[in-house]
Amino acid sequence: MIEKTLVLIKPDAVERNLIGNILVEYERNGLKVLDMKLIHATTSLAEQHYAEHKGKPFFNRLVSYLTRSPLVALILEGENVISRVRTLNGTTDPETSQDNTIRALYALSMSENAVHASDSKESADRERAIWFG
Ligand code: CMP
Repeated sequence: MIEKTLVLIKPDAVERNLIGNILVEYERNGLKVLDMKLIHATTSLAEQHYAEHKGKPFFNRLVSYLTRSPLVALILEGENVISRVRTLNGTTDPETSQDNTIRALYALSMSENAVHASDSKESADRERAIWFG
């Protein structure tokens, strides 16, 4: 099934000049970039994006991290792209991410973990609307 998903190349990765290294991982696996922008997220945008984590102890830290400097938002398209991108990204915690996943290669910690990708069709639809209208 051809799907679309929302990916963020997060502030820690943009700050370390990793945009190209990360995009290459998606493109060489046959995923198509449909739309892309560099954006400095507002608090309101970050709070909408992380709405499901509201009330968790790390929520405020997540929002201030996501808004601290520009990030790259992109829409990727491909066969089963939602689960394929999650596999390419690796687990949330880089300590447990498989070798050669984006997070194993580039994430610094559980919070500064280089990339975000939608985890289901419903979140992909919701998150694409948040970032691209
Ligand atoms: P992301 O894929 O952007 O979606 C939710 C984010 O919450 C996740 O990446 C992590 O950066 C962050 N996160 C999840 N669990 C924790 C945690 N226990 N402590 C700090 N950050 C977390």
